[in-house]
Amino acid sequence: MRRRQFITFLVRPNSGWPQDLGVRHNKWVRLLMALSGMTYMLSSPSALSQELVTQDLEAASEQQVFNNACRTCHTIKEGDNRLGPNLYKIIGRKAGSLPDYNYSSAMKGAGFVWDEEKLEHFIANPDEVVPGNNMKPYSGLASTDDRKKVMVFLLSVTTGRP
Ligand code: HEC
Repeated sequence: MRRRQFITFLVRPNSGWPQDLGVRHNKWVRLLMALSGMTYMLSSPSALSQELVTQDLEAASEQQVFNNACRTCHTIKEGDNRLGPNLYKIIGRKAGSLPDYNYSSAMKGAGFVWDEEKLEHFIANPDEVVPGNNMKPYSGLASTDDRKKVMVFLLSVTTGRP
């Protein structure tokens, strides 16, 4: 092929070149575009999976605060009492009501059902909510943010949020 013809081909592939090769060229371009589109879709993390990763991280940090502040004495497993009573489904449970745990008389006679407000207040300052309780040694959870995390964690155990 002559030089001029070749340059024309480079600029306008369908002219000055056998027709069937031009058609194939188009097919290639389309195939390449389809492939790169697929690669893009596969490699870019979808909004959904991003969301799930963020949720996992949050849940992990909520559990972490619970582990640090409460797990020495409490589990969240039904029937599994340690130094403190288990906190399985604690929100909505009557205070001091587990039959197989030896509560202080203060907690046994508290006479209310744990809701979020009571529980958050209690873990900030146990004696203000149940004076004379036996949750000791416990110095309170001063950070509002940490208390929120414990609440969300305990709620997730209560409601089964994933
Ligand atoms: C040093 C051990 C200890 C730590 C730490 C501790 N607790 Fe307790 N907790 C207890 C004990 C002991 C009781 C029983 C108190 C009583 O009978 O007066 C109790 C009772 C409770 C109750 C009442 C349960 C019921 O059945 O009514 C709740 C709710 C509770 N704790 C939540 C927490 C949370 C949430 C944390 C962490 C932020 C925490 N506790 C940290 C020892 C602990």
